[in-house]
Amino acid sequence: MQLGLNIDHIATLRQARKIAQPDPLEAVFVAANCGVDQITIHLREDRRHIQDEDVRSIIKHSPLPINVECACDVNIVEFLCALKPFKITLVPEKREEITTEGGLNMNTPHLKDIIKEFHKNHIKVATFIDPNEQSLLLSKEFNANGVELHTGEYANISAMLYSSLRTHTNKIQSLDLSQTELERQLEVTITALQTYANKANELKLGVFAGHGLNYQNVQTIAKIPHITELNIGHSIIARAVIVGLESAICQMQKLLL
Ligand code: PXP
Repeated sequence: MQLGLNIDHIATLRQARKIAQPDPLEAVFVAANCGVDQITIHLREDRRHIQDEDVRSIIKHSPLPINVECACDVNIVEFLCALKPFKITLVPEKREEITTEGGLNMNTPHLKDIIKEFHKNHIKVATFIDPNEQSLLLSKEFNANGVELHTGEYANISAMLYSSLRTHTNKIQSLDLSQTELERQLEVTITALQTYANKANELKLGVFAGHGLNYQNVQTIAKIPHITELNIGHSIIARAVIVGLESAICQMQKLLL
């Protein structure tokens, strides 16, 4: 299983002060030394964490392949085509959301053309989709190289079932359900991820997954056949604040063996 380390929240910490530290590029070198397979960064329209200059310097200096997540925004597409990262993952974006909430709407205008534009610039493209038939078939039809299956629903249900979130003010209201119902919903989401990982593989798409994965919930996803890459950010960076980045990465890698 390949680990894509999402380093957005190193930039989030830096942007809290709008100074130079911590520098996400420094984290790239630590990650490379730890044997991380890929660096993931999300250039959001509101530039709340990763900045244009981060993207430039990380793509220029990283010894690891760079996966840039972005929305279907014409200016961002143009900017990234010029920089030629290894991979683009197309994600939906709402300004007011705290993090990416759902999979890409495959009816987004010009989606096929945007994928074509990246391909013209020799950049691989994945779509970040909810595990469902329509999103998968359209990803294939639009010539994406792969799909990243959204594990956010799985992560949310797991957190409401097995962590203290349920008793917290941040609890997810729509998932404030009985344990039996949460267990049932968890099974449904795992089955959907298994089903569409399998179908994506049959369609010869690369199969990746991510969002909300952490030290408690990652192993179930890592065991799903055909998923070859997990993109994980918040949980590793949050742990790194306490134990250091190297240890936080290493602890996650052990769970992916
Ligand atoms: N994959 C995609 C497509 C994402 O948008 C994100 C969040 O930026 C992640 C993975 C990582 O999610 P998390 O920070 O919850 O691990």
